[in-house]
Amino acid sequence: MKHYYVTTPIYYVNDAPHVGHAYTTLACDVLARFMRLDGARVHFLTGTDEHGQKVEKAAAAAGMTPQAFTDKVSQNFRALAKALNISNDDFIRTTEARHIKSSQAIWRAIAANKSPKGRDNIYLGKYAGWYAVRDEAFYGENELVTGPDGKKRAPSGAEVEWVEEPSYFFRLSDWQDWLIAYYETENPGFIGPVSRRNEAISFVRQGLTDLSISRTTFKWGVPVPDAPDHIMYVWLDALTNYITAVGYPDTKTDLFSIFWPADLHMVGKDIVRFHAVYWPAFLKAAGIAPPQRVFAHGWWTVEGQKMSKSLGNVVEPNALIARYGLDPVRYFLLREVPFGQDGDFSHAAMVRRLNTDLANDLGNLAQRVLSFVAKNAGGAVSQPGALTAADEKLLGAARNLLPAVRAELAEQLFHKALDALWQVVGDANRYIDEQAPWTLRKTDPARMSTVLYALTETLRRLGLLLQPFMPDAMAKLLDQLAIPADARDFAAFERALVAGTALPAPQGIFPRYVEEGEATAGKGGQKGR
Ligand code: MSP
Repeated sequence: MKHYYVTTPIYYVNDAPHVGHAYTTLACDVLARFMRLDGARVHFLTGTDEHGQKVEKAAAAAGMTPQAFTDKVSQNFRALAKALNISNDDFIRTTEARHIKSSQAIWRAIAANKSPKGRDNIYLGKYAGWYAVRDEAFYGENELVTGPDGKKRAPSGAEVEWVEEPSYFFRLSDWQDWLIAYYETENPGFIGPVSRRNEAISFVRQGLTDLSISRTTFKWGVPVPDAPDHIMYVWLDALTNYITAVGYPDTKTDLFSIFWPADLHMVGKDIVRFHAVYWPAFLKAAGIAPPQRVFAHGWWTVEGQKMSKSLGNVVEPNALIARYGLDPVRYFLLREVPFGQDGDFSHAAMVRRLNTDLANDLGNLAQRVLSFVAKNAGGAVSQPGALTAADEKLLGAARNLLPAVRAELAEQLFHKALDALWQVVGDANRYIDEQAPWTLRKTDPARMSTVLYALTETLRRLGLLLQPFMPDAMAKLLDQLAIPADARDFAAFERALVAGTALPAPQGIFPRYVEEGEATAGKGGQKGR
């Protein structure tokens, strides 16, 4: 059986969930659902990153202990997953006992092995350098920029502070050649998109310095084995979640042997270095296989501006869902912007996608076909006669969608997969206009039957393939086509509709979004607030 392990980053609990978090999780959900429908055994992991200085500070600001604080706020991310209809198989918190055990085990494994140059992978030293709490990252002097206020900042804009403390180091510098060989020879598809791959390769080529992997000036973290004054650097702890969730350190379990190495770590572009440089090196040093692939998506701005608390423009997923509906939001986020690039969220763009792609193109197609069948074809799947070239063309295009969508999603190109699907939506809309079943009803009822068959069969294939993107809306469409529950996976993609099957009364799937105050409000449209 095929298997597929996909992970989201684990989210820092200090922040309220926003559209950026929703985006990463949603992209993974579409892949997990697609792979399940395509016959794979899937493990889909998400969760929360709860240690480190940033969370410790946020807890103090809230007047709570870090544990009580994280217990409370990690719930917001569970609730987000539920609100987005996310099909995760596990939700991990880095404060769980299974994870503390796993983090200490990977530390021990790294320490027990030698680097490629035969030296200790971990050694005790003293860190003296810059640290950005917001990024939980160490930066070299040469990476910093000085702002107009004279303050030094990380490339991400985060403020940095000078840190001097005893620290254990990971001998990252000895892993440089191995990493380059991994990217270039052993696993050329490791990092996507190509622009991020090139960045990571050039970062490694510039020369790696050893990485501080423990802290001693605060307490909120996983204790370093046999060194109680040290806690593990939060990124080493955080990255380890991906193996904890499949049973590490017990590598004999089914979960570990089936699902590790992970097929895909989905991340945002800001955290490529951690996933594509540090993580494979940590794993290799611990004697564990590195993951298959890391894909970095872009960032969302809002109405052309950076999303930030101080600007007060943070887009909150629950508000989006309440306003536009869940499936339109899921569709929009993955359709609007080529996956991998930055994009802008705007109300106008959201409404355009909802009203044009969903209500007009797909919703209207389904509504036209199904209500015509209900009124003029006895409310049942029509009997096809001999197929014309036009019928074959439409049915062939719909049939080819499965391999096409599979290929696009194998490279995380959601927008291209949706584009391929909408080509066929467009073909079907043109076909119905050209074939004009309303005329055939009077002139050639047998031909009308064939045309309706081709259209309903095309709707069936579209409905099946769009399930991962819009699970609820497509369940409604497949219900209206009377597709039984056991014929909704891709093994049933070739199981054509059976003529004569009674179809339930059609109902609209995507109501138009109507702006508050527009004259048409009240005609069943979704009302703006
Ligand atoms: N805790 C770390 C990840 C550890 S994984 C072992 C972290 N957490 S985070 O909560 O700050 O960010 C999680 C994800 O949200 C990142 O992939 C980040 O790119 C994404 N986004 C945060 N803001 C975003 C946008 N404005 N737009 C798109 N994604 C954004 O980093």
